Amino acid sequence: MTAYEFILIEKPAPGVGVVRLNRPQALNALNAGLMREVGAALRTLDADDSIGCMIITGNDKAFAAGADIKEMFGTTYVDMFMKSSLVSGFDFAPIGKPIIAAVSGFALGGGCEMAMLCDMIVASETAVFGQPEINLGILPGGGGTQRLTRAVGKALAMEIMLTDRRLTADEALRYGLVNRVVAIESYFDEAVALAQKVAGLSQVAIRLTKDAINKAYEATLHEGLEFEKRNFYLAFGTEDKAEGMQAFIEKRKAQWKHR
Ligand code: CAA
Repeated sequence: MTAYEFILIEKPAPGVGVVRLNRPQALNALNAGLMREVGAALRTLDADDSIGCMIITGNDKAFAAGADIKEMFGTTYVDMFMKSSLVSGFDFAPIGKPIIAAVSGFALGGGCEMAMLCDMIVASETAVFGQPEINLGILPGGGGTQRLTRAVGKALAMEIMLTDRRLTADEALRYGLVNRVVAIESYFDEAVALAQKVAGLSQVAIRLTKDAINKAYEATLHEGLEFEKRNFYLAFGTEDKAEGMQAFIEKRKAQWKHR
């Protein structure tokens, strides 16, 4: 297995692959090396047939406290423009399998943005979400102005990003940013159980569904409905559609082939 410096890879249950951010001394601040490793690990797990769903997590104190400010301090406009290695990591679009963020403690700046890149978020009761970039004289660069605004609406997004208003886990749940809030002792197990549920279903149907939901962010309603229709028709060409419906009629559990 590849040796990583800033992350750990875990496989806590069948079908589930975990990328654990592992810079606890820096509250998992996202430096360029860590971002590269997260991308590489996700691609590896995505290509692994034994994995059906992935989790990104940190530790109880911090999911991630944002991009690495000490690394960014010496970074110029031309560095960012020519390499853009930091922000280019904030793109999980090439990853086909669902990703769940298991968030405890700080999810600030790039940490909040990384959680929002995931398909679902399980939060511990201690989770804190925010985009404090304004305090540094910059703005979110990992998608925060767009994804957070879509998630919580313009008024609250403005307050969060213009005044560094932070959301508690319960507020994040109320405003639709996270799927559920659970005790700190069980948020990771809850994320694993959710990931196992996803991994136990037809991976081809999961992919078609995830792609169609994501289309809702990019397209007009008409285009999105056309995309959904195309994926729906496509599902009728799969072995899993035949098996799923046959299993229903025979009152038994489906045996997915992921084809
Ligand atoms: N970058 C680099 N180092 C960081 C960091 C960051 N984003 N966040 C925390 N650290 C480091 C601290 O410097 C400290 O290191 P030292 O012990 O070597 O001094 C260590 O982690 C522990 O941090 P604190 O002592 O500050 O811990 P705390 O519990 O007192 O405070 C905190 C926690 C409120 C999260 C505070 O650390 C903080 O405000 N961090 C910065 C949050 C931030 O501004 N994030 C946005 C970054 S910009 C960004 O993300 C851009 C983008 O959109 C991509």
